[in-house]
Amino acid sequence: MFKTILVAVDGSGHAGKAVRCGGDIAKTYGAKLVLLAVDGHRPLKGPLIDLAKSEDLSRSEVFERILASARILAEVPEGVTVEQRVGFGDPADEILDEAGRIDADLIVVGSRGLGEYAELLLGSVSRKILHLAKVPVLVAHS
Ligand SMILES: Nc1ncnc2c1ncn2[C@@H]1O[C@H](COP(=O)(O)OP(=O)(O)O)[C@@H](O)[C@H]1O
Ligand SMILES: [Mg+2]
Repeated sequence: MFKTILVAVDGSGHAGKAVRCGGDIAKTYGAKLVLLAVDGHRPLKGPLIDLAKSEDLSRSEVFERILASARILAEVPEGVTVEQRVGFGDPADEILDEAGRIDADLIVVGSRGLGEYAELLLGSVSRKILHLAKVPVLVAHS
């Protein structure tokens, strides 16, 4: 059923949950897993600022690091193809565009991300994707 799974990662624990779900489904179906982090040209947030400072990373290195951590977290065995990429622009638009480009048949996101409004159940990126995606969307809650 699933051949290409797109998981959106922003460095949050919620996205980590999405990565584990996406990795598990990729394993089960032998699907390709594509990990996407979008640089929204906004100031880096909480844990990302700490990461950049503590290891003296450039902005692009921070996004590469988010993807590298996600890849480890996905725990996919050898033989399952994993690709990772950085997008630029509005995160939801980029995630939806990338899903179209790679012909993804499933998009996996976390319910929340790095935003500060803890009372919200769904962040704006996950909400926009749920509204506009043309393929099934899995929202991982943590
Ligand atoms: N810049 C981004 N790049 C890739 N995925 C993202 C990005 N921002 C959010 N996401 C995805 O959307 C999910 C929900 O995040 P978001 O809607 O931004 O919530 P919040 O408002 O709490 O930050 C994240 O767990 C992640 O899967
Ligand atoms: Mg966010």
